[in-house]
Amino acid sequence: MADIELIKLKKVYDNGYVAVKPSDLKINDKEFMVLVGPSGCGKTTSLRMIAGLESISDGEIRIGGRRVNEVQPKNRDIAMVFQSYALYPHLTVYENMAFALRLRKVPPREIHEQIVQAAEMLSLTSQLEKLPKALSGGQRQRVALGRAIVRKPQAFLFDEPLSNLDAKLRGEMRYELRSLQQRLATTAVYVTHDQIEAMTLGDRITVMSVGEIQQVAPPRVVYDWPFNRFVAGFIGTPPMNFLPGILKDAGGSWSAQIAGHAVPLAMPNRDNLGKARDSEIVMGIRPENLHVAANAPAGSPSMDMKIDVVEHMGDHQYVYLRADGLPDTIIMKAPGAVELAVGQVARIHLDTTRAHIFQGRGEHAPNITLPPGFPQQQ
Ligand SMILES: Nc1ncnc2c1ncn2[C@@H]1O[C@H](COP(=O)(O)OP(=O)(O)OP(=O)(O)O)[C@@H](O)[C@H]1O
Ligand SMILES: [Mg+2]
Repeated sequence: MADIELIKLKKVYDNGYVAVKPSDLKINDKEFMVLVGPSGCGKTTSLRMIAGLESISDGEIRIGGRRVNEVQPKNRDIAMVFQSYALYPHLTVYENMAFALRLRKVPPREIHEQIVQAAEMLSLTSQLEKLPKALSGGQRQRVALGRAIVRKPQAFLFDEPLSNLDAKLRGEMRYELRSLQQRLATTAVYVTHDQIEAMTLGDRITVMSVGEIQQVAPPRVVYDWPFNRFVAGFIGTPPMNFLPGILKDAGGSWSAQIAGHAVPLAMPNRDNLGKARDSEIVMGIRPENLHVAANAPAGSPSMDMKIDVVEHMGDHQYVYLRADGLPDTIIMKAPGAVELAVGQVARIHLDTTRAHIFQGRGEHAPNITLPPGFPQQQ
């Protein structure tokens, strides 16, 4: 059993900067947990505290139920893989992988078996006698992975291991990592600022912002039910559109007054909207929930918008729209076959059954359209 528990974990650096505010997080045994958030939000700091490479200012870390605050990194039985592969340049791939095992006085035969097996898993069998400088970036990162695997740790910690690779290789390695994790069935904590990696790799993802956990949930749940505006804007590409407005209630029929339009709201969970009646809100709507609707009937949630830029992606296109009174460009995802001319004004339907209402205008404004009883964590 190697679950990892963070209990009121806090980090204050020597200069007084609070990099991680008291945080609770439980990573289950064999789970792939992704920590995601913008640069500087405290991901690496959190991971280094788990690894024992950074001191803990307050709170506790438990690995497999055991408090490890005072345990040396080498005795925590975890393996860390970094963005910089940190391979020994003068050692072959084989010797790089063998290094930690030799230090631990593992019998040579066992070392050999481990390496052969890991090399097989990582398609490195034909590279074992090469020096790191003779390998591609992707191969080097695989050696770094192999070195972690042969140690058979209780948990893997990854800090942006793919960010030095080009986009194509990153995609391939993402797939390999995921299938490797499924075969090895080892707890993993994976840090990235790339929300695509978070969505594709995580059993669950933890979204962080300025040292604070914002939401912990499976990728699909974070996407469909973001707790607040920060999470809503961070997860999803292109990002969710945010339209500022005032919330209006005409006898139980809710609408958002947005840029001079009364946009009827049809999301399934409207029980909490009363909290923000007649106040400032932001309506969030994802690009795929906007549609061209030339013949939208009066009173349907629609707005006229001017087509500013069209990005063709093949089977779909991203359409950048401007509307009078809206501060930001609105992005719509449309099927590739729809003909859209730049400069044209189009009637855009807003599918408000899939929209979210955030109370207030703050960066972390709460989502007041979550399903009833929606758990506040997990
Ligand atoms: N040794 C240090 N002393 C003071 N502040 C630090 C120190 N190390 C990091 N910080 C600050 O702590 C905050 C969190 O840093 P951290 O490296 O954990 O961020 P991160 O989420 O990993 O960001 P990135 O995506 O850029 O790697 C940052 O604001 C950073 O400037
Ligand atoms: Mg970092």
